[in-house]
Amino acid sequence: MQTEAITLIRKPIGALTPDMFEPVMQAVPELADGQVLLRVKLLSIDPYQRGLLDESPMTGAPVAVGAVMSGRGIGEVLQSRAPSWDVGDLALGEVGWREHSVVPVAGLQRIVKSPMPLSHNLGVLGFPAITAWLGLETIGFPTAGECVLVSSAAGAVGSAVGQIAKARGARVIGIAGGTRKLSLLRDTLGFDAAVDYRAERDLAAALKLVAPNGLDLYFDNVGEQMLDAAFSVLNNAGRVLLCGHIASYDDTFKADTGPRHYREIMNRRWRVQGFVVRDHMARFAEARKALVDLVESGRLQPVVTRIEGLRNAPVALCGLLNGHHVGKTFVELA
Ligand SMILES: NC(=O)c1ccc[n+]([C@@H]2O[C@H](COP(=O)([O-])OP(=O)(O)OC[C@H]3O[C@@H](n4cnc5c(N)ncnc54)[C@H](OP(=O)(O)O)[C@@H]3O)[C@@H](O)[C@H]2O)c1
Repeated sequence: MQTEAITLIRKPIGALTPDMFEPVMQAVPELADGQVLLRVKLLSIDPYQRGLLDESPMTGAPVAVGAVMSGRGIGEVLQSRAPSWDVGDLALGEVGWREHSVVPVAGLQRIVKSPMPLSHNLGVLGFPAITAWLGLETIGFPTAGECVLVSSAAGAVGSAVGQIAKARGARVIGIAGGTRKLSLLRDTLGFDAAVDYRAERDLAAALKLVAPNGLDLYFDNVGEQMLDAAFSVLNNAGRVLLCGHIASYDDTFKADTGPRHYREIMNRRWRVQGFVVRDHMARFAEARKALVDLVESGRLQPVVTRIEGLRNAPVALCGLLNGHHVGKTFVELA
């Protein structure tokens, strides 16, 4: 049996472009014991995939030139040589950018069939929202009356952070790029204020206007200048949760320097803490249960960008990195 896959043909130096990938036909390997053959239905498109194209990714194994692009997704079992996995079961795991994928069941998560859209398992009930919920639960702790800022606020993680913080009674401000995203945040998702970082010459001044009493928590998905601007309005004893630094994902060759604002972190008693969701896997089930409750009660609205067709996966990843999408980006295969 042959299947279509998307391979990397050139490593990016700086920005990623879709022409660095190409579709190929490949033979599907025979199943070994403990493996299933999946027909891939949805591919998750995520910022960490940009890092997989570097020589030494922070997360996961690097993708070599000529190899199929790595990526997580949901597939339906077509054949099984694993006990307790049957034809028709749905599974989430590392499937790669291909139509059919042979995978060991050890790394798979079973998807319980439900009336909710399958894509919820990648977004509002999946990794991004679990990241948001656990980040707030373990480090952020927003409480009623506090002021919370989140960057990349219209994205998969950010849109969940804002809505969950709001459900906990906080005042929520989002930073995002463009008027369409600002309107989504304020008019649909119930953010109290939103700032368009692409339109503001002085982001710190714009933040001071919408947070006149300062920030208590900054959930950082972006890093660099956005982190600087957030520091400038952070209250004494404020918290900063470092979740991502997408502003520097293309700067493969730029070495980290020591922390800036070092003296202020001490003098103002700030707590700045990195967060990696995989450290909290023992609490994923608890997080998912809480997210189901938030979704069912209407306090957490799903936001998605759906792109059709395996061949559009490179465009989907580049679009995500360039800020063209809102919410959770996924590719739906025919
Ligand atoms: N620590 C963890 O365990 C963990 C887990 C999951 C995700 N993450 C991180 O969380 C962040 C959000 O992930 P996500 O999946 O929800 O992605 P996302 O926010 O849905 O998509 C990425 C967004 O980043 C923004 N962006 C890109 N380049 C930017 C730049 N130079 N400056 C400012 N904004 C920029 C764009 O939005 P705009 O249009 O608003 O610019 C883009 O839409 C990423 O940094 C990701 O790596 C961390």
